Amino acid sequence: MADAAGWRERARRVLVGNDRGGYTVPSPGLYPFQWNWDSAVVALGWMTFDESRAWRELDRLFEGQWDSGLLPHIVFHVPADTYFPGPSEWGTSDRHQPPTSSISQPPLAATIVRMMSERALDAGLANRAVAQLLPKLLRWHRWWFRERDPEGTGLVVTFHPWESGLDNSPAWDAPLAAVPPTSRAYARRDTGFVDSARRPRQADYDRYVHLMDFFRQAGFDAGQIYAECPYRVADFGLNAILLRATEDLAELCRRHGESGAAEEMSAAADRSRRALAGLWSEKAGAYVSRDTRTGRSLEARTHSTFLAWYGRMAQSAEIDRRLLAGFNDWLARVPHGLPSTHPDAPGFEAQRYWRGPVWPHMNWLIAQGLAGAGHAAEAAALRHSTRSLIAHGGFREYFNPLTGEGYGGSDFSWTAAVALFWCAPEKIS
Ligand code: GLC
Repeated sequence: MADAAGWRERARRVLVGNDRGGYTVPSPGLYPFQWNWDSAVVALGWMTFDESRAWRELDRLFEGQWDSGLLPHIVFHVPADTYFPGPSEWGTSDRHQPPTSSISQPPLAATIVRMMSERALDAGLANRAVAQLLPKLLRWHRWWFRERDPEGTGLVVTFHPWESGLDNSPAWDAPLAAVPPTSRAYARRDTGFVDSARRPRQADYDRYVHLMDFFRQAGFDAGQIYAECPYRVADFGLNAILLRATEDLAELCRRHGESGAAEEMSAAADRSRRALAGLWSEKAGAYVSRDTRTGRSLEARTHSTFLAWYGRMAQSAEIDRRLLAGFNDWLARVPHGLPSTHPDAPGFEAQRYWRGPVWPHMNWLIAQGLAGAGHAAEAAALRHSTRSLIAHGGFREYFNPLTGEGYGGSDFSWTAAVALFWCAPEKIS
């Protein structure tokens, strides 16, 4: 990908090629439906060259929203047989059309909507789109606070590692071990597309399937699932993303004259900010997640800790300094940053999905936070590293931090989007 104009053109072609009529599949074959946090990132990519298509991406995503406010992690708009688990496995078609999964994903959307409205060239269109999205975003955020933090701790919980978006991160090894493996037969499809050494292990899948079946058997009853789910984790990364999004939602409400909702969201954000500060681990020198079944803190060293800046946690200067030193240490250890797990950590695997590889959209989120906190040099380093990975490896799903090799799906939508709005070379030659 030599010249800047060619880069952008190829990235646009990835989005256009993955467009299925107002929504974008993450990657043909491997992920043939609409994914929640992927679509948020992708909408910002569309925003660089087709604003009405960008807003449409979010409208289509919210077609999957349940009456409860849940915005599912997958919307199965049309059938496809290249992905497991598909709609019949989740068993939601009686309660929602189009069918969806029954779990959610990191709530990026409100932040992305704010970014889109601030970038919009067509202000009228943006205003109308935001006005339509606001009540839906509010219902989703209220759902998180009501169903995923029923005890009012300030931290929401995930019931499945897929909700974190970081499926097989070493951070989930301990809580996932408490989930019984399914005893039923099922056939994975992912390993037909990607080398199994680069995907989650079979033992992980056996537990992913058990959890999915448990939700269906519980009739998707939020109270029962909260009480009985064998996996229940307060994920630092997801909570930091929720904090930022809740602040951004409050701001959008203010701009649209919804002062009551703005105050409600600001108050929720304050609770969340206070609770997140409690996830700092002196031992790890990092923010960590917590298993709320056992009360244990999950000390695995993952890149999620660096979402603290993105979450705008207002931490002390001392914690900021330690986190920044940690970040620079991670970068210095590998030729291509930022690895998803610290290279010296016991769970690190350079090839295996969320156990080591670099993920471009995570680099962008972390860099966003770094830049906002005044750490411009570190943000620039991440941008540079992401650009060179994509330039050499193509629009792949994730990259080996030791060799720079691109892995997983090809023509990957959020990688192309990140290139378009963040790390493509500026100079159009
Ligand atoms: C994988 C990733 C998840 C992503 C999805 C679609 O499941 O772990 O974060 O949303 O693929 O790209």
